[in-house]
Amino acid sequence: MARDLSAPDLTVTVIGTGTMGRGIAQVCAQAGLNALMFDTREGAVAEALDLINKGLDGQVAKGRMTDEAKQDVIAHLKPIGSLDEAAGSDVVIEAIVEKLEVKRELFRALEKLVAPDAVLATNTSSLSVTEVAAGCDKPERAAGLHFFNPPPVMKLVEVIGGLNTESALVEALVGFVKRIKKHPVVATDTPGFVVNHAGRAYGPEALRIMAQGIASPREVDILMKEAAGFRMGPFELLDLVGGDVTHAVMVSIFNQYFNEPMYQPSAEMTVRVAGGLLGRKSKRGFYDYAGPTAGEAPSVPVIKMPKPASAWVADEEGGAALAELLDAAGVKTQLGGAPASHPVCFVTPLGEDCSGAAVRLKLDPSKTVAVDMFGGFPGRRTLMKNPLTAPETLGAAHAALAATNAPVTVIKDSPGFVVQRLLAMIVNIGTRIAELRIAAPADIDTAVELGLNYPKGPLAFGDALGPARVLAVLDGMDAITHDPKYRATTWLRRRARLGVSLLTPD
Ligand code: NAI
Repeated sequence: MARDLSAPDLTVTVIGTGTMGRGIAQVCAQAGLNALMFDTREGAVAEALDLINKGLDGQVAKGRMTDEAKQDVIAHLKPIGSLDEAAGSDVVIEAIVEKLEVKRELFRALEKLVAPDAVLATNTSSLSVTEVAAGCDKPERAAGLHFFNPPPVMKLVEVIGGLNTESALVEALVGFVKRIKKHPVVATDTPGFVVNHAGRAYGPEALRIMAQGIASPREVDILMKEAAGFRMGPFELLDLVGGDVTHAVMVSIFNQYFNEPMYQPSAEMTVRVAGGLLGRKSKRGFYDYAGPTAGEAPSVPVIKMPKPASAWVADEEGGAALAELLDAAGVKTQLGGAPASHPVCFVTPLGEDCSGAAVRLKLDPSKTVAVDMFGGFPGRRTLMKNPLTAPETLGAAHAALAATNAPVTVIKDSPGFVVQRLLAMIVNIGTRIAELRIAAPADIDTAVELGLNYPKGPLAFGDALGPARVLAVLDGMDAITHDPKYRATTWLRRRARLGVSLLTPD
């Protein structure tokens, strides 16, 4: 029988008081629980307490916490010098080194100490909870509690039941997570659980765009922030988390899913990590943090041309909206029909490249450019050339688009532009998580919003963009690249066909 975790004076022991452990201990103490802290490294607990103290002082200084409340938190934190002192714990949360054997050994040692119904929780981010608990006599009392960095700030905690975990314990831990004022999301014991699994789209697909020379990291970041509304661009995020950490997660999830192409890591990252370009912590990553920011030439140079008097716009999805924008900007457009003698032909493909659209529509490629109308994002526009687009055409198209009152990023030819590619991959992997029943559809969105800070969860994003459109992007990319990483999931395809929300359960 799982222990009652709603008892008033609960004692939690946190083992390993590094980055995560000290935050978890603080969160428990803030909720009024007794939080014992243990670490095998001499001085580690004292350092952790010092950092918690300084952090809380900052909160007091900002007026977010009273000094009295701070003292109360500190009073609930208790360093222990030996593991034996954890014997009376109701819950033990380990946040030690990410090594299976070390975690297993710790769980075995704890089992000998704590009460038979005390709970053992692991904060592992990449190991299987079932595997960590496999050496225990009673694996049914072990589960995963996956916090996010930094725990005092991040609201989400993934609650993971291993294959042998008692189901009542998962429920009890959901209550426990609420009690420490966090938001629980229940996930199955699968590689990366929900959040680290869902995160396999943004960075990896952006790295492919960079590797293919379609746009620079800065251009991709700007597009994702200004057009798609993300708080951070994928390369800023990679630099913040650290190339070494992110690359290790990418490789681990790819391997654990037996080389599923959707999760393919980036060969470029292997070299960057080897070269020490880790991001903020090494002062150099995709950006240089050591000195003033250097100016950067755009990936595609554009010659200055006057705004054209007229333009042809393909009468396909997004075409009418683009024609309206251009007309309002003083460029007289012809929507569909024969392109006649207009200096620029605009196409608005979904999942198709500019070359493919020009050939399919029998246009002169030298006069053809593509504009991304997916999502109708007004903050920034993407203009895409094909290898034969004439410099004068590109210059004129740029002048026309710039007159629509939004900044313009010019990229090289790619099925799915930048924003379509990244969003379609985020949605597709989100639907894969739903398809694999790793978490309930609505929980997938909540976990991604809270754990990754995306403006929307992947399923809600797909719904807002239109499941059929997302499917068209993926099918287009799949048809052009023949790369299985772009194949749409059955979850997405089925709901797009039925015309229903991606949150619709089976
Ligand atoms: P860290 O290196 O900052 O802290 C680990 C602490 O555990 C160190 O103080 C170390 O001395 C101590 N330790 C190592 N072996 C021990 C043992 N056998 N007994 C007691 N203490 C021991 O590591 P961090 O980043 O806090 O990660 C800890 C765990 O949390 C790992 O499993 C990691 O995968 C997971 N995690 C990390 C996140 C992050 O963003 N850093 C996010 C979510 C989970």
